[in-house]
Amino acid sequence: MRSDYCGKLTRADLDREVSLCGWVHRRRDHGGLIFIDLRDVSGLVQIVFDPERSGEVHTIGHSLRPEDVLRIEGKVAPRPPETVNPDLATGEIEVNVAAVEVLNRSETPPFSVEERGDVDENLRLKYRYIDLRREEMLVNLLLRHQVSRTIRNFLDCSGFTEVETPVLTKSTPEGARDFLVPSRMQPKKFYALPQSPQLFKQLLMVSGIDRYYQFAHAFRDEDLRADRQPEHTQVDMEVSFMTADAIMSLLEDLLAGLFREVLGAELARPFPKMTYGEAMLKYGSDKPDLRFNLPIVDVSNIFRSSDFAVFARALADGGTVRAIRAPGASRFSRREIDELTDFALSRGAKGLAYLIIREKLEMKSPIAKFLAADEKTQVLEATGADEGDIIFFVADEVSTAVEVLGALRPRLAAGLELPLEGWSFLWVTDFPMFKLDSDSGEIVAEHHPFTLPSQETIGFLDDEPLAVRGSLYDLVLNGVEIASGGLRIHKPDLQRRILAILGHEDHQMERDFGFLLEALKYGAPPHGGLAFGLDRLVMLMAGLPTIRDVIAFPKTQSGGCPLTGAPATVNPRQLKELKIQQ
Ligand code: AMO
Ligand code: AMP
Repeated sequence: MRSDYCGKLTRADLDREVSLCGWVHRRRDHGGLIFIDLRDVSGLVQIVFDPERSGEVHTIGHSLRPEDVLRIEGKVAPRPPETVNPDLATGEIEVNVAAVEVLNRSETPPFSVEERGDVDENLRLKYRYIDLRREEMLVNLLLRHQVSRTIRNFLDCSGFTEVETPVLTKSTPEGARDFLVPSRMQPKKFYALPQSPQLFKQLLMVSGIDRYYQFAHAFRDEDLRADRQPEHTQVDMEVSFMTADAIMSLLEDLLAGLFREVLGAELARPFPKMTYGEAMLKYGSDKPDLRFNLPIVDVSNIFRSSDFAVFARALADGGTVRAIRAPGASRFSRREIDELTDFALSRGAKGLAYLIIREKLEMKSPIAKFLAADEKTQVLEATGADEGDIIFFVADEVSTAVEVLGALRPRLAAGLELPLEGWSFLWVTDFPMFKLDSDSGEIVAEHHPFTLPSQETIGFLDDEPLAVRGSLYDLVLNGVEIASGGLRIHKPDLQRRILAILGHEDHQMERDFGFLLEALKYGAPPHGGLAFGLDRLVMLMAGLPTIRDVIAFPKTQSGGCPLTGAPATVNPRQLKELKIQQ
């Protein structure tokens, strides 16, 4: 139907007769002339309806409204110099319309495609097909495609085989609730949608596939956030006979190539590595944003015999006092400090003490009068604080103190307007194998129950399981966990031991994971892998605040789809067929 794409025309096309298809983006009338920006996937071009050329064409031009769909024919002409638009790729030319066909009319859309501006997200999601016409959304989909294609190319060229794994399957524990699908043919039985293809990719290693990948949808019924959707896309990978270091290095190759090709950015290699223990103590998070430093410092020893009761009591109870220096924060208003305090309280702290360092290192704060002179000197030394800074303190159990200060770090960085530039990748390694579930108090897997314990700590399995570390690695980018993986158990006995520690009785083990335990008996190779969150990666590459903006049809915070109305009630007949209702 067309000879060219709108956004591709340039001076090189001058005097050509072209035919174009697209949508009316914007219309302006000028002394009889009608100017329309015609839009297609490639961009915009100005088309001109001149009453002197054809009355009939001009009449149609008059009737056109935003989002009408057209096919036009016309000649490419230079724009008069004073109307050249340097902001538009096609800004030096226009097309004089000789013939026009209205392919479809549009009602007034619920929001403008042309104007930027805040449109309610529910409305955008309800009319997502219109939302996706907007340039800022279209570029996200195009970027996502480019990222996927580049990753696929890399993996294809690196000996990986893409294999699809089932979506109707059995529960794979990744720490979230399952989405269940009732079976009609086997009443009262359910499939689970995969929380990840974890077990199938391990079985593929037993099959000798050697290097597997898949762009897999993973389904998790959990509370949603800006970087969490009930279904997300993982680039899921697994390899045999490779060390953890080699796997990490392979992913670095992939990402370095990706950032070079798509963003023209050179990543510093190798990516830094930090153990989970160090990340928690120094940054209070297993996914610290290292675009800024703001480390947490242990100042307990300074206050062991302090007159400041809050600190002394916490220490006497076996707790700790931790501090962060916020350089230049003395300009914070009282209100800003109060907001930080409220935030600390909301994260479980009992308070947020602070010292404002004024000229000549004089200290101002409600707690300054309780601190001895040498305590003040030592705190300055330990934190490196100087005139104009604030030192914030939390006294509590170690985990609370570091987690509260860790959560404060990005807020301080924002308040201090620290530059958030560059791509800060960080491998976090040596996670614990197990942790205690905060609600039930039971021992649960930190990642999933198929992780290989580290060589150095496997000896603690029986007596001190919480001291066992897993051969695990997470990749963090700018404070967001973008990938997670590890080496896996490839021997059935060890897999049984781990499941037993996690509280599985023999019969449960057979019922839930019998197929895996069986497969591991038949020559399973050492293997490992990882999965990265494609939505999160593209979100970060596009510099966006939420993964919803890089997913064509995402769900709302309450898991709904305003466009289709999912989830929805179903026909009683369907429930009857499924033996869910009589
Ligand atoms: P994990 O559970 O860490 O690991 O998931 C891998 C990566 O997927 C992304 N991700 C999500 N993105 C959006 N919404 C969600 N709800 C969501 N949940 C996870 C994250 C995360 O790093 N089978 C293991 C991987 C392995 O061990 O190989 C797994 O699924 O970026
Ligand atoms: P109080 O003696 O409770 O009035 O507290 C004095 C100051 O210490 C206030 O600024 C509190 O916010 C702060 N504070 C109280 N408890 C703690 C704590 N556990 N850690 C850090 N600061 C605290």
